[in-house]
Amino acid sequence: MMLLMLLYNCWSITSICVISWFSIPSLAKPTVFSTVGEPWPMPMQRTVSDITYNVSPETFCFNHDGVNCDLLQQAFQRYYNIIFYGTIEAPSQEALDAYPLKGDGEKQQINSLIVTMTTCPEYPSDNSNEEYSLTVHEDTSNLESESIWGVLRGLETFSQLIYIAKDGRLTINATDIVDRPRFPYRGLLLDTSRHFLDVSSLLKNLDAMAYSKLNVFHFHIVDNPSFPYQSSTFPNLSQQGAYSPNHVYTQDDIDRIIEYARVRGIRVIPEFDTPGHTESWHGIQNLLVPCYTDNVPNGLFGPVDPTEESTYMFLTELYKEIKNKFPDGFIHLGGDEVKHTCWASNPRIVSFMEAQGFNNNFTKLEGYYDERITQLADQVGLDYIVWQEVIDIGAKVPQKTIALVWKDADGGYVDELAKVTAKGHRAILSSPWYLNRVKDPHTDPWKKYYKVDPQNFPGTKDQKKLVIGGEACMWGEYVDDTNVIPRTWPMASVIAERLWSPKDLRDPKAAASRLAEHKCRLVWRGLQAQSITGPGFCPQEWNSREHDKY
Ligand SMILES: *[C@@H]1O[C@H](CO)[C@@H](O)[C@H](O)[C@H]1NC(C)=O
Ligand SMILES: *[C@@H]1O[C@H](CO)[C@@H](O)[C@H](O)[C@H]1NC(C)=O
Ligand SMILES: *[C@@H]1O[C@H](CO)[C@@H](O)[C@H](O)[C@H]1NC(C)=O
Repeated sequence: MMLLMLLYNCWSITSICVISWFSIPSLAKPTVFSTVGEPWPMPMQRTVSDITYNVSPETFCFNHDGVNCDLLQQAFQRYYNIIFYGTIEAPSQEALDAYPLKGDGEKQQINSLIVTMTTCPEYPSDNSNEEYSLTVHEDTSNLESESIWGVLRGLETFSQLIYIAKDGRLTINATDIVDRPRFPYRGLLLDTSRHFLDVSSLLKNLDAMAYSKLNVFHFHIVDNPSFPYQSSTFPNLSQQGAYSPNHVYTQDDIDRIIEYARVRGIRVIPEFDTPGHTESWHGIQNLLVPCYTDNVPNGLFGPVDPTEESTYMFLTELYKEIKNKFPDGFIHLGGDEVKHTCWASNPRIVSFMEAQGFNNNFTKLEGYYDERITQLADQVGLDYIVWQEVIDIGAKVPQKTIALVWKDADGGYVDELAKVTAKGHRAILSSPWYLNRVKDPHTDPWKKYYKVDPQNFPGTKDQKKLVIGGEACMWGEYVDDTNVIPRTWPMASVIAERLWSPKDLRDPKAAASRLAEHKCRLVWRGLQAQSITGPGFCPQEWNSREHDKY
């Protein structure tokens, strides 16, 4: 007999805020009708029956059998709140009075979900096991997974299966699911250099990621315009490089972001892009190359100086700090869009080139730099991802270097994926998924994003296996706290389904109704997810007063 421990003592509340569905047939005409109780992303295998059960906050409990840990307990609490309230706050008395619980009470109830797992690592990683199986039946409902990461994905699915039926009651259909992601790397890039994003915006995005089973937050934390990362080793970097003393991420902020991500099974990979994209790194003396005009310094500064040993000493210390601060163990080293004109104008760089025998070929100098920084990262024990240029220019970097493919959106990435994987590197695809380029979901529709397949390029089976996933990018030129959520969501969810669900699930028409439901789900959970499927409605529309939990 299983030993069940009641982990989570359910709160005694007498009723719940329910939403009344149309009682009179409506003649309104949305473009897409939402589904009810359909998951997003779609699981690998699912069987649903017409048998339904009620789920009641008065009786329902999450239980666990065997291994327990803080991540599990926190997840039980989060999902209890999500399922029964939609927001953290309990419904008001007015709401309870306006929508009393109704229904005949004859349906069977599901009173517990028993969660079984065998491992609970402290942090998610590049080999997190996210597979789970979920069964919902009258006698027992079970969620089983080897690890907590699969449990988190399964709890998300379970919460999505529960819907408000026409009788106004929380309902779930009898269901059997076996699920695991198609790709292990399912990322979202946010850019906090071009516009600073408040920590609360980053946390909201982490919630939205968890709701769509994305599992890597690519934190593009610094770039040319500003350096908001407050380094403990080099405080000058943000002192001189942040937009203002308010536009910084303190060490505590970083811890908070990492912890919020951890409990949701999301990795945080910071990017410290060099040698280009470093105009804000003025806080370190002699790091950036002075540019010359007619053999005289012209007051401008170019990319990082690859010729000075002090550069590599500084980077070693910075990488050590990152290794200690970000538990994921991966860093994105950058390496994109390196302009050679400033290097070429500087007499000291030119004589270094001659001494090295680079024959006035600045691509060789760039490759030399890339090789040096991958060695430094190896020395401090960091794994790394780079933008595709590092591979394109033929830098002799280790085989384990992962290439993030970003060029170009109009299909050039097909050849690039073939090229990078032919060289034996693992690849992540982002080119077709630059969400900041979406001007209007109608003129640049989500269907295009949905149809992309990261393994659709000419190559062998082994090459296809080297594609570990993809990433939605939200670059920050015109994106700040006011619009980051609606511009990112639910568009990033579209890519999330492409990266999680089976390859043959490809029909946007069939997905549209589920996507409409998922958008409403995000709204109900407190996120301003915009409409991307055209005219339509949510059972519960956005109401800022009810969504103050962040
Ligand atoms: C769930 O059950 C209801 C009621 O029997 C049925 O109408 C609905 O189609 C079922 N849902 C799914 C996804 O099959
Ligand atoms: C930090 O900046 C100050 C003021 O510009 C400078 O005097 C100091 O040397 C800098 N420290 C480092 C480590 O670069
Ligand atoms: C410059 O060097 C790169 C990398 O070694 C090489 O691929 C390229 O052909 C060289 N360019 C010229 C003009 O020699």
